[in-house]
Amino acid sequence: MTDPRTVARAYLEQQRLLGGDPVVREDTGAAAASPPPAAAPVTPPGPPLPPPGTSWEPPASSDLFTADPVREATSLEVLAGLVAACTRCRLCESRTHTVPGEGPPDARLLVVGEGPGRTEDETGRPFVGQAGDLLTKILAAIGLPRDRVYICNVVKCRPPENRVPQFDEIAACVPYLFRQIDLVRPKVILAMGGTAAQTMLHSKQSLGAMRNQVHRFRGIPVIVTYHPAALLRNPNWKKPTWDDVRIARRLLDD
Ligand code: URA
Ligand code: SF4
Repeated sequence: MTDPRTVARAYLEQQRLLGGDPVVREDTGAAAASPPPAAAPVTPPGPPLPPPGTSWEPPASSDLFTADPVREATSLEVLAGLVAACTRCRLCESRTHTVPGEGPPDARLLVVGEGPGRTEDETGRPFVGQAGDLLTKILAAIGLPRDRVYICNVVKCRPPENRVPQFDEIAACVPYLFRQIDLVRPKVILAMGGTAAQTMLHSKQSLGAMRNQVHRFRGIPVIVTYHPAALLRNPNWKKPTWDDVRIARRLLDD
């Protein structure tokens, strides 16, 4: 995609999808909606980096004498095998497939969602339903093909009727997520939605209060934003989400 017109068209389409700033000049009206100059960047420079937020370093298990297969899993495949056999919480009872997560083991961006929905439970893959399509577009808008991103969830089995995972279910499942993060060692983590944000930051704050700061999990920058499923219901959140993912992009580029 090197033809400047193609690049400009792709840029405009991203702006439209993500609710970015209007590109129609008010003085000349809609007739001026021609592509911006040929040099328009695909990813425009983002806003300045927001201030630091919370920093969380979850303690390692205090029991030094019990081997923990999750903490000792040597690869993402081994971990996925443990998830497939897991009965640590009640969500194992109603699942069709476990959804451990997917992506390159050396991905630079790791996305955390809440938990599998219906399509994910049917396929065993994260973010493959409608919300997943939107996530793919959001990632494309910051120049990241989905297959270069590690995508996973706080809980690996679908909560019945897509209800929010309960505290004890999250507590049972979160060691898998933490081990995934240890193994991938991403440069940036994008937490999408309140469940992911609260879990990554060990906080009960609202999503709105946690946005627009650079938090840290074990030293890795964490950016918090809206969940794609919430964006489908509330398009007003597309613009702030666009701002948030551009912060993640900037941190990746640093
Ligand atoms: N919503 C999520 O949080 N995760 C998925 O995998 C799909 C939808
Ligand atoms: Fe195990 Fe997590 Fe599934 Fe619960 S949700 S059964 S802890 S894999």
